[in-house]
Amino acid sequence: MQVTIADRLQQTEEYYFSKKLSQIAEMNKNGADVLNLGIGSPDLPPPPIVIETLIKESQNPHNHAYQKYTGTPELRNAISDWYQREYHVSLDPEKEILPLIGSKEGIMHICMTYLQAGDEALVPNPGYPSYAAAVNLSGAKARFYNLSEESNWLPNLEELSKQDLSRVKIMWVNYPHMPTGAKANRDFFVALVKFAKKHQILLCHDNPYSFILNEDQLSLLSIEGSKEVVLELNSFSKTFNMAGWRIGMLLGASERISEILRFKSNMDSGMFYPLQIAASKALSLKQNWYNDINSEYKKRRVKVYEVMDALKCTYSKEQVGMFVWAKIPDHYRDSYELADKILDQAHVFITPGGIFGSQGNRYIRISLCAKESLFQNALNRINSVKQ
Ligand SMILES: Cc1ncc(COP(=O)(O)O)c(C=O)c1O
Repeated sequence: MQVTIADRLQQTEEYYFSKKLSQIAEMNKNGADVLNLGIGSPDLPPPPIVIETLIKESQNPHNHAYQKYTGTPELRNAISDWYQREYHVSLDPEKEILPLIGSKEGIMHICMTYLQAGDEALVPNPGYPSYAAAVNLSGAKARFYNLSEESNWLPNLEELSKQDLSRVKIMWVNYPHMPTGAKANRDFFVALVKFAKKHQILLCHDNPYSFILNEDQLSLLSIEGSKEVVLELNSFSKTFNMAGWRIGMLLGASERISEILRFKSNMDSGMFYPLQIAASKALSLKQNWYNDINSEYKKRRVKVYEVMDALKCTYSKEQVGMFVWAKIPDHYRDSYELADKILDQAHVFITPGGIFGSQGNRYIRISLCAKESLFQNALNRINSVKQ
């Protein structure tokens, strides 16, 4: 049978990691034993209380039915308490919180709810590739705004204001920023909300990294008057090492949440009840949870700095989050050349910054999601390859 794919997929490629991981699997099949320093999937275990609760709740025969489209009240209340305690943001658990199957699906829900052909969305370059992919799938156009090291990877709002923004409906922002590890401060967030109000743009803030190697948690919703123009996504994936569980959250004004539910309730049928109850337990963990994972990431980061030094890459030690982002030496054509060389010769996979946009072309990203010994092993292999 001949079947053509829909126009909306024409500009959408298979996700870079999906392709690369198949190549690595093939190399491993041939005996390569590739060390993967690429993907940000936490290898540390979730909190024990979360696992215990999942097991206990799964044993109850009444806990296996379809669940509410809006999530269980226990989870929504736990999210509300967590946002109050950690971000100083008050959210109505009934109306301003929507549990999600990961924040990645939230990106798609938001785009499919608000965007269509003729609309534009501002998307960071470099940035998480799913923003542009979801914008394209919605039929709208991704309009990239450049971030650069010189401006601490923050957008130039003054310059953006001078452009014709009449078709722009949404702006994607993400601080702590992935892949660069840049932080935003409150003053910048205040300016961002002002910019969004002036241009009537819905600000969509993706905030999954605020607890990783970062001291001060900041929600865009903590800015006065922001609810009018802000939606925020958050996730259990990185903060609680629950990436494979697929659970996240959307926060915002009740009107926005109901609009997005119109789309989402036609896409899925809720989440497994034991998973939701288990996840709520994570949200009441005390400070020592965050301290413990961060002391491990801190040790790993020292090793990653050594790997970056061996590659003659330069980096800022101010960055936060789950990765180290570094500039490649001038003699490489681009980040792909370096990443391919290290994969071929040292059997170490490092993410080329170019996959996050053209502004990332001269950078690479190493994930902290591997044990110190693996970084040491990678370092030994890289040292044996001529730089
Ligand atoms: C910036 C950013 N947003 C969202 C996600 C997706 O997270 P989740 O597991 O909640 O879908 C990731 C995952 O790598 C990410 O880096």
